[in-house]
Amino acid sequence: MTQREQRKDDHIRLALNHPEQLSDFNHIQLIHHSIPSVNQTDINLQTMISNLPLEFPLYINAMTGGSKWAGEINQKLAVISRETNIAMAVGSMHAALKNSALIPTYQVIRTINPSGTVFANIGADVPLDFAQRAIEMIDADALQIHLNAPQEVVMPEGGRDFSDWLTNIEAINEKVSVPVIAKEVGFGMSRETLQQLTSIGIEGADISGRGGTNFVYIENERRPQKDQSYLIGWGQTTPVSLLESLPFQRDIDILASGGIQTPLDAIKSLVMGAKAVGLSRAVLKEVELNGVEAAIQFIELFKAHMKDIALILGAKDIIALKQVPYILSPELESWQRQRNER
Ligand code: FNR
Repeated sequence: MTQREQRKDDHIRLALNHPEQLSDFNHIQLIHHSIPSVNQTDINLQTMISNLPLEFPLYINAMTGGSKWAGEINQKLAVISRETNIAMAVGSMHAALKNSALIPTYQVIRTINPSGTVFANIGADVPLDFAQRAIEMIDADALQIHLNAPQEVVMPEGGRDFSDWLTNIEAINEKVSVPVIAKEVGFGMSRETLQQLTSIGIEGADISGRGGTNFVYIENERRPQKDQSYLIGWGQTTPVSLLESLPFQRDIDILASGGIQTPLDAIKSLVMGAKAVGLSRAVLKEVELNGVEAAIQFIELFKAHMKDIALILGAKDIIALKQVPYILSPELESWQRQRNER
């Protein structure tokens, strides 16, 4: 097994044994009204990411591919996404772009779900032809470009030169035929990042915030010397990242992921302006610990409960959800005030 394949398997194993984190969703309170004035049958949460329609604003976010175990998981995730009719992303495709023997561990998702909506996934440092080959490999509907600087720094074998990420993302975005989604991996996004992304014409940003899977924790656990564990609290939580995104939501479609545990977290994200919500570790745990059938039930229930919450909020679609009033905790309010003042 190569170092890269070993790393993939370590990520899966450690994600399955990952401690729960604090996500800040309890710092947002949606205001309840007693007369919702909506019929359940009128609720339709269809959404759009750039020019890509999604039947429901939920997707399985990037995790894996690139080892035997990862291929088996992708196969199961593809069944789940097909049966629940939600989009899915594959994990970083660098492994298959460097070693063609690993291509089937990604392509399996198309074999299982030929007409589903799927996202390819690459890093911000790869050349344009890698991006194009990644899209072709799985006939992707969108391309996620992951931004994972803290993870790279914590990995001894990780990259250290981030100087051309922005120009490279711009070059890829100009040439590929599908929408590009710049994606964090659990450290959240800032206004400054979103400003940079909109300035180069990126149409989607997955703010993937702190509060769920933590790659500082995972990379530290992979080594006997856990010498950068003090960085575990690094980054913005998903709710804070959503607050940061507010001034940009007209220019770029925001996707929310990172620590989404409950249907209420997902609805709060839509209220704060996300166009769709991604789940990674929650689905991985469900499928690996309880099986494909249980994971399908988990997502079906998640979807049904999201609709129930939309119903009691009196919001029949995602545009109406965005009008729902909410109250921030003193901590989040303070974050927002300080950002507006400085
Ligand atoms: C990830 N994530 C990830 N993201 C990415 O863009 N490319 C990748 O290859 C991976 N690999 C990966 C492996 C595993 C096992 C997990 C659990 C996650 C990050 C993922 O897409 C997401 O941004 C974070 O996991 C936060 O979401 P959750 O897990 O808190 O729902």
